[in-house]
Amino acid sequence: MAKIAVLGYGTVGSGVVEVIETNNAPISVRAGEAVEVKYILDLRDFPGDPYESKVVHDINIILEDPEISVICETMGGNEPAFTFSKKALEAGKSVCTSNKELVANHGPELLEIAKANHANYLFEASVGGGIPIIRTINECLTAEKIDAITGILNGTTNYILTKMDKEGADFGSVLKKAQELGYAERNPEADVEGYDACRKIAILSSLMSGKYVKFENIYTEGITKITARDFAYAKVMKQGIKLLAMSKDTEDGFFAMVAPFMIPDTHPLYTVNDVFNGVYVHGNMLDDSMYYGRGAGKLPTASAVVGDVVDLVRAKGEPLPCIWSSELQELTDIAETHKRFFVRVSVADKAAAEKEFANLEAVDAGFADEFAFVTEVMTEKDFAAKAEKVNVLSRIRMEG
Ligand code: HSE
Repeated sequence: MAKIAVLGYGTVGSGVVEVIETNNAPISVRAGEAVEVKYILDLRDFPGDPYESKVVHDINIILEDPEISVICETMGGNEPAFTFSKKALEAGKSVCTSNKELVANHGPELLEIAKANHANYLFEASVGGGIPIIRTINECLTAEKIDAITGILNGTTNYILTKMDKEGADFGSVLKKAQELGYAERNPEADVEGYDACRKIAILSSLMSGKYVKFENIYTEGITKITARDFAYAKVMKQGIKLLAMSKDTEDGFFAMVAPFMIPDTHPLYTVNDVFNGVYVHGNMLDDSMYYGRGAGKLPTASAVVGDVVDLVRAKGEPLPCIWSSELQELTDIAETHKRFFVRVSVADKAAAEKEFANLEAVDAGFADEFAFVTEVMTEKDFAAKAEKVNVLSRIRMEG
C-alpha cells in the first residue's frame, strides 16, 4: 500500500483526491500497489468533507511519517511550497507538483536535492495541464534533437482570443465575461501579460536544452493591445491571432519568447481554440508533432499530477529520466530573429510607411482611415528601427 499526502486542498489538490478515488482500481494496478491518500495539508478545516479526517495543519506530521513516500504539492506559489518540497525531498520522499512558478524558479535545485536523497521530483502538471508534454520530452522523444517548441500554453488568453475572433468583440469586454464565467482570475495580469506562458515555456525550453532557461530572460509580451480591428484584418488574411510561447535552437543561437502572433489557418495550432492548449514540437528526425488537450482545469491538471504519483510509486526512489542541469542556457537576443510583421498605420502615414518598408504587401480590410501591410522578412532590430520612423498604430509578429 502506497500512502501519499496532498499539500493544498484547493482546486487541483481536491482534484487529485477525486482522481485517486474515482480511478483507484486502475491507478493501483498501474502503480503496482494500492494507492491511498493518508494526509491532506491545508490551513483550513473542511467540516462535512468526506476527507475531513485526513486534514492536517502541520507539515511535520507528513514529513516525519515513514509511511508517506510520495507527496503531491498542489499549493501553488513559491512559499511555503519551496520549503515544504525541499524538506520532503531531503527526507527521501518523492514529490510531484502542478506548480509552474516553483518549477520555473527552482526546478534544477529541487531535482538535485531529489537525486541526492534517492527520491524523484516530477512536474508533469506544471505545463499544459493534462497534456503529457513533459513525459513526452523526457521519455518519448529521446531519439530526437528537439530544435523548436511552439505552444499555446495559456488557456485563459486562448479563450479570450478565440472569443475576440469569433464574436468580433474587444479585449476588455471579453476579459470581463471570462472573469464572470470564472475562466479568468479577478487579477488577470499573470495570464493576459503572458507571465504564466513565460514560466511554462521556460520549463519546456530547459528540458529541450538540458540546461536552465530562466524565465526572467525570456522576452514576454501579452495580449492586452490586441484589438477587434486586428482580428478583422486577420480574417481577410486567413490568419488567426494566438499567444505563442516559443523556443528555437538554431545556428544563430537559442531564442525564447512569448508574444501574440498571426498564424495561417493552415497551421495546426490555428485549430487550438477556447481554453485548450497545444504544443507543436519539431525534432530533427521526427519533423513536426503536436500535442493537444485541456491545459487547465481541476480534473485534467489533477490527472497529470496523479500520473506522476503512479510513476513515483512504481519507481520507489530509483531515478526517473529528467535532464535539466543548473548550468544557465544562454539566450540570444530576439532582436536578431527574423520574421515578417503585420503593421497598421494611419492613412496619413501611408507614404512614410511605403518609403521605409520595401516590398510591403498592403492588406485591405475596408478601413478607410488606415493603411495596413505585411513587411518582408526582417530582423526584430531592423523592424524596430524602421517602425520608429513611422507612427505605427499596431504591429503583430507573423509565424509560419
Ligand atoms: N491560468 C492558467 C491558464 C492555468 O489559463 O492556462 C493553468 O496553468
